[in-house]
Amino acid sequence: MKELEFNKIYNMDCIEGMKHIPSNTIDLVITDPPFAIEFKAKKSNYNRTQSRVLEGYNEISQEKYYEFTLEWMKEAYRVLKESGSMYVFSGWNNLKDILTAIDELGFITINHIIWKYQFGVVTKRKFVSSHYHCLYVCKNNENRKFFPYSRYDKESKGERGKSLHYEDKEDVWVIKREYWNGDQKTPTKLPAELIKKILMYSSEEGNIILDPFLGSGQVAVISKMLNRQYIGFEIVKEYYEFAKERLEKGLYRIKETNKTNETQPLLLFDKGKTRYGENDLTFLKTAKQIGKRLKRIPKLWNGRKSILEMKKANFPHWKQMEWIGFYFQFLCEKYLSKIMKIPGPKYGRVEFDSFKNIPWDFKAHAMNTSSHQIIVNDSEATAKGIKNYGKVGLILALGKVLYNDEDRIFQKWHEALKGGKSKYEIERIKRGAWSRLRKVSFDLQQISFIKITDDALVKCGSFQRDFRNAGEQPRKEKVLLDLEKIDEDLVYFVEFL
Ligand SMILES: C[S@@+](CC[C@H](N)C(=O)[O-])C[C@H]1O[C@@H](n2cnc3c(N)ncnc32)[C@H](O)[C@@H]1O
Repeated sequence: MKELEFNKIYNMDCIEGMKHIPSNTIDLVITDPPFAIEFKAKKSNYNRTQSRVLEGYNEISQEKYYEFTLEWMKEAYRVLKESGSMYVFSGWNNLKDILTAIDELGFITINHIIWKYQFGVVTKRKFVSSHYHCLYVCKNNENRKFFPYSRYDKESKGERGKSLHYEDKEDVWVIKREYWNGDQKTPTKLPAELIKKILMYSSEEGNIILDPFLGSGQVAVISKMLNRQYIGFEIVKEYYEFAKERLEKGLYRIKETNKTNETQPLLLFDKGKTRYGENDLTFLKTAKQIGKRLKRIPKLWNGRKSILEMKKANFPHWKQMEWIGFYFQFLCEKYLSKIMKIPGPKYGRVEFDSFKNIPWDFKAHAMNTSSHQIIVNDSEATAKGIKNYGKVGLILALGKVLYNDEDRIFQKWHEALKGGKSKYEIERIKRGAWSRLRKVSFDLQQISFIKITDDALVKCGSFQRDFRNAGEQPRKEKVLLDLEKIDEDLVYFVEFL
């Protein structure tokens, strides 16, 4: 067998497979090796329906566990770069074998992280296991790469004034397991959030990430999403094929049937919303049709790449510093122009973004901000749209935004690309306005279809006046929508997990 390729996964024993990777080539290993316990995930614990769990889980016996650990870890050590790191997950049952192998092979332990998850199996005569161990180790501590501000900058504060940066860096990670209702799944699966966190702190775009024990392929799938290269092994054919399908189709979840999951609550505001505008079938039908197309748009939007993409396509708004909203508009125009009229109707000087049965606007909003009020269209245009069509629609992209541009590298890059600061920016500086930290990326979680009627505006709307625009004239009054007050106005959504 010749040398293996990156951005591929292999259906084979990893101990054999890793032998075909040259020494010192891997930037980061993230792995969750099999346990040496009789694993009962195939029985329907954790609320899993047995039929949806793929068959065939490869376990190692207790007596052979240390020998097996030494064997795979020895290869992992060899292929890892001097600057690389490894994160190994382990339950407490085999922890001592993992720790001994780490020492035996000369790895240096950096942290012993605890992953605390939100549920375990209920017990009668002992305490409930609700944590997992994660050993963060490296080959050479001097050369080890670590990106401390890749998620939160030094100053970022949470709700109660706590430092988000500090909290995120604590070695107990409270991260929920993922429930995959109605999707195919493998019995053990690390949540995407956990892998993302490791990738962001210990790797950069383009780095090579190895997972010798792929299972459902989570490590490879998330690596690909974050523009890293990947390679990995899985011995069970069904799991390998499942992981491969996810990677090839660029899908996070694979539905058993094609139906979109319409009864799941809106996860963002955790209010358990399950009511849909069932009495408005046209709205629902239109939303589903649009949703089906939008399902194909990328999940992760990198600031630089998105701006370059808009510029290349001659999209007029590529110079705007609030690029996320414009990029969503750009994507909508690209993916929806065949099924919607773009732009939509114009009332006075203001137009809607598109039209299909009713006027629609496209908006993007950061979930991780303190305010969930969003500015929708001009109030006069909104009123006229509602008068003419009974309602207007909002297609809202919700996602997690990264603001880690504390060195202003991204801002400077954008300014250089534009050929200097905009008139608006210069005006702002003159006024002494504080220059906002740029958003460097957007991780799309959900696209919601919201119906705006007079009733919705009474319940969740207010108006924003007296805002300056680039020309210093006061802007027209805008409708502000409080997303947290929305309930049955959220008619439909598609998820990107
Ligand atoms: C704990 S699971 C990994 C789960 C994975 N992290 C995920 O999120 O889906 C361990 C996986 O290693 C696989 N496995 C066991 N022995 C292996 C070997 N020698 N080579 C490759 N894969 C192996 C098992 O089939 C199982 O899918």
